[in-house]
Amino acid sequence: MKLLIINGPNMNMLGIREPDIYGRKTYRDLEQFLHKSAEELGIEIELFQSNSEGALIDKIQEAYFQRFDGIVINPAAYTHTSIAILDALKAVALPAVEVHLSQINEREAFRHISYTAMACEKSYAGFGFEGYHMAMQYLHEHHGSGQS
Ligand code: DQA
Repeated sequence: MKLLIINGPNMNMLGIREPDIYGRKTYRDLEQFLHKSAEELGIEIELFQSNSEGALIDKIQEAYFQRFDGIVINPAAYTHTSIAILDALKAVALPAVEVHLSQINEREAFRHISYTAMACEKSYAGFGFEGYHMAMQYLHEHHGSGQS
């Protein structure tokens, strides 16, 4: 199984940005965590991070043409604003799972709405890096080889 793991704006600033909320681990640490998780689960992954909405949409569209089996996405702030990313996820219709490091429902009211989650089968928020592992595991269990 081949999954695309997408991180949105400011996720490259992990370790520097608001450490009280997002912790002190860097995006590089997240990449290493994801590669280790993928190896444990026996799946292939490609990682992508961008601060630009258009680049995120282009990558989601590519996932369709490059025959990925699913998408794990942390759209970061675009979660709460981007109907265009929601539409891209709907357009490719690949199984998708949303992840947030923080528990968005316990933060400011504007973070309580997730447009992108409307095109996702599941969301994990507030589990830190572990949420990505849970998302990969979910897709592996429900959409890996031999699953319906
Ligand atoms: C985030 C939560 C978003 O509200 C925020 O804009 C982010 C990160 C998270 O992982 O907790 O950039 O997606």
